[in-house]
Amino acid sequence: MNEKRIGVDYSELHQLDSPANRLIRESIWGIEDDIGQQSFITPRYLDQLIPRLGIEKTTHVLDVGSGAGGPAVYIADRTGCRVSGIEINEVGVDVSRKLAKNSGLEEQTGFHLGDAMEMPFTENTFDLAISLNVMNVFSDKTGLFKEVLRVLKPSGTWAFLSGTFEISGDEETKQKMARGYLIPQYYDSLESYRKKLESAGFRIEEITEYVADFRVQVKNWGDAYKKHSTVIAEEQGEENTRYHIEYFDTYLKLVDEGRASNHLVICSKPE
Ligand SMILES: C[S@@+](CC[C@H](N)C(=O)[O-])C[C@H]1O[C@@H](n2cnc3c(N)ncnc32)[C@H](O)[C@@H]1O
Repeated sequence: MNEKRIGVDYSELHQLDSPANRLIRESIWGIEDDIGQQSFITPRYLDQLIPRLGIEKTTHVLDVGSGAGGPAVYIADRTGCRVSGIEINEVGVDVSRKLAKNSGLEEQTGFHLGDAMEMPFTENTFDLAISLNVMNVFSDKTGLFKEVLRVLKPSGTWAFLSGTFEISGDEETKQKMARGYLIPQYYDSLESYRKKLESAGFRIEEITEYVADFRVQVKNWGDAYKKHSTVIAEEQGEENTRYHIEYFDTYLKLVDEGRASNHLVICSKPE
């Protein structure tokens, strides 16, 4: 499978205010649920996640692949905690910093431009690391998990939300999924995640499937691209728009066939 980037670059998606992105966002989330996320999550989901992960004012949180900063700023705002984001896309970091400033949360948040595989943080820094819909971009997940383990404090928590797939051997589906999305797709099954986490040194605490709202989100993204395809194509290219529609249609089909799901994985760093 061709692994080079063939979809829209995240820089385009992170410009939340562009005409096409505004239409996409309004179509998926309306006004109330748009927190500047660049994923399948909703504020409702974060409201459940915050108590579940025990995020409080004193928690220092790392957000791996923080995107345009929406979820990180939301969590900082709701809890009063400190959040550091690491994000490889410059536009995403700029937008995140502006969002934090406009929300009066500059002091509580820090957005760092960099690769999560080599984070600019010293060891034992964070109480909690989270990552929302980012895992599929990493080819070396064991390497990433080791890096997260390094920057977490002993007994710290690593919680990520990720798509999980059973599509090995199905090259046509893989191609459709890779083309429609933005970065090479390094899909993992749940079993493969377990092995990689344990080999990196994590203890798995809890794995929960999260499909109901997630399916709606996948459908909403696809519907948004279909509804506004002309404007999106003008701004982000006809081929990319077509690929995105194909991606979200394929994703939804996989969910309905039970071949794709979404899991919240919670693990801990041993003391
Ligand atoms: C689907 S978006 C999710 C963003 C954010 N978590 C959210 O929920 O809004 C995935 C993000 O991962 C970032 N990313 C990709 N590779 C990365 C890497 N090696 N290190 C850090 N961030 C990365 C992308 O630039 C993109 O912003």
